[in-house]
Amino acid sequence: MTGQAQDGGRKLRSQAWFDNPDNPGMTALYMERYLNFGLTRKELQSGKPIIGIAQTGSDLSPCNRHHLVLAQRVREGIREAGGIAMEFPVHPIQETGKRPGAALDRNLAYLGLVELLYGYPLDGVVLTIGCDKTTPACLMAAATVNIPAIALSVGPMLNGWWKGERTGSGTVVWKQRERLAAGEIDYEQFMEIVASSAPSTGYCNTMGTATTMNSLAEALGMQLPGSAAIPAPYRERQQIAYETGKRAVAMVWEDLKPSDIMTREAFENVIVVNSAIGGSTNAPIHINAIARHIGVPLEVDDWQEIGHKVPLLVNLQPAGQYLGEDYQHAGGVPAVVNELMKHGLIRENALTVNGKSIGENCRGAEIELPDVIRTFDTALVQDAGFIVLRGNLFDSAIMKTSVISKEFHDRYLADPKSPNAFEGRAIVFEGPEDYHHRIDDPALAIDEHCLLFIRGAGPIGYPGAAEVVNMQPPAALIKRGIHSLPCIGDGRQSGTSGSPSILNASPEAAAGGGLALLRTGDRVRIDLNKGEANILISDAELATRRAELERQGGYHFPPSQTPWQDIQRSMVDQLAQGMVLKPAVKYQKVAQT
Ligand code: FES
Ligand code: MG
Repeated sequence: MTGQAQDGGRKLRSQAWFDNPDNPGMTALYMERYLNFGLTRKELQSGKPIIGIAQTGSDLSPCNRHHLVLAQRVREGIREAGGIAMEFPVHPIQETGKRPGAALDRNLAYLGLVELLYGYPLDGVVLTIGCDKTTPACLMAAATVNIPAIALSVGPMLNGWWKGERTGSGTVVWKQRERLAAGEIDYEQFMEIVASSAPSTGYCNTMGTATTMNSLAEALGMQLPGSAAIPAPYRERQQIAYETGKRAVAMVWEDLKPSDIMTREAFENVIVVNSAIGGSTNAPIHINAIARHIGVPLEVDDWQEIGHKVPLLVNLQPAGQYLGEDYQHAGGVPAVVNELMKHGLIRENALTVNGKSIGENCRGAEIELPDVIRTFDTALVQDAGFIVLRGNLFDSAIMKTSVISKEFHDRYLADPKSPNAFEGRAIVFEGPEDYHHRIDDPALAIDEHCLLFIRGAGPIGYPGAAEVVNMQPPAALIKRGIHSLPCIGDGRQSGTSGSPSILNASPEAAAGGGLALLRTGDRVRIDLNKGEANILISDAELATRRAELERQGGYHFPPSQTPWQDIQRSMVDQLAQGMVLKPAVKYQKVAQT
């Protein structure tokens, strides 16, 4: 069978390495070390597809660690379908473990994976996704290289429980740290309650960035239907791993590539689904990045235009009550998509990895737990998507309106004289350390009429952009029952946070954005109806401040601590543009060139 492919003659990419009679010397060199782990020459030259398993799990990345187990079932699926599996490590990214932040490593893992997919004899790849940044890193690389690729989610952890109540990843931290600050619980109790939210292997069980991005990878068409929500320890997770491996082989023969799946239609579906699930504010950053690498036009404004009017259907923390296991039992992504299809909001012809359209896959997927996944009639929030704000503070920033609490709404948005608009005195912090240092400083005289700003937290100011915009008010205000102040900044915030911050401001202060001109004590007006955010000073005063900033050499930020921080800072784009490495974008579909 040497030199012949199974589909009747089409030569596979891997055969250029392993079976090239025109260059026996190179072929022998390429092949001989791959025999060392027991593969035979016959196998390597059989024309069977070689399927990579891009392994993101490791001891350093516990959210994805279960992929080390699942990979065995992926291999069995690949073998069953007539392929050869080759597993290899992807640069690990643990959201909660990496200093100064995991987002710094998204582009590093992307670059590394591009080199692996391009430079090794792989015909297709299974992308093992899960923890926040692992999903975009893998999909961005698949977009750039454009060989057949299918994602496999590791699945969420089981539900956390504490004294009969669900405790959700991350969300429990934001809630309990307020109780800790107010003296209602001590350090020991705090740690115990937080630990209860992480009862098993898997990623965050809330609708944080992980559940968001894994759901969106399915909505994008890059995972098998119904696979995103299966909790990590369930038997169905092992079964879908096997099916994913099998399907990867078939995709190679069908030559079904990321560019066939990740189309403009598919990205529009992603935006709609993100609103319906109450997805993380990190989603626009990562999804826009994937779109840029596959060459599909997608702007931050598309998120409001396509997504804002969509209601919130999924009742998961932080916007709602439930957790990952409930989401799975309620029907997961297909049930959400089916409900959206009934209202004409899904582009049903978008193709997915199983070779069928999203419409074919999801039509008839019923909601099984009506309190967990709602219908349009029982939606949790109307108009649940992001809104985009702009003004003299920034060209764009987004706000997740579905998490606005009643307390916040009544204090800031309910005034009949100016509905959905508010003004206040700005308190400005220079990055997270400054915030922690000064938030309780009585000299700032922070009261409920203040707006908290943080800058120096964008991709350049704080490499990778810090998840810090959801700032807690001073302890004195919390004791008075004021749990949230409006927060605005050029950083990000955790998807598990329920804070209605205005964030991802672009350009950031460090890139010369208007935020750099703001001073503590300025009055700022936010108008959600008009989508505006402005410092209430004259243009002349703004120009004077800008000239002064330029004389000082621009906004100052701390030096880099590692080579990668420095390299990334020198070439990274802003959050609105996906925080991609600017020179990387021109390399598209590189496996074909
Ligand atoms: Fe890894 Fe949330 S910390 S998924
Ligand atoms: Mg996060």
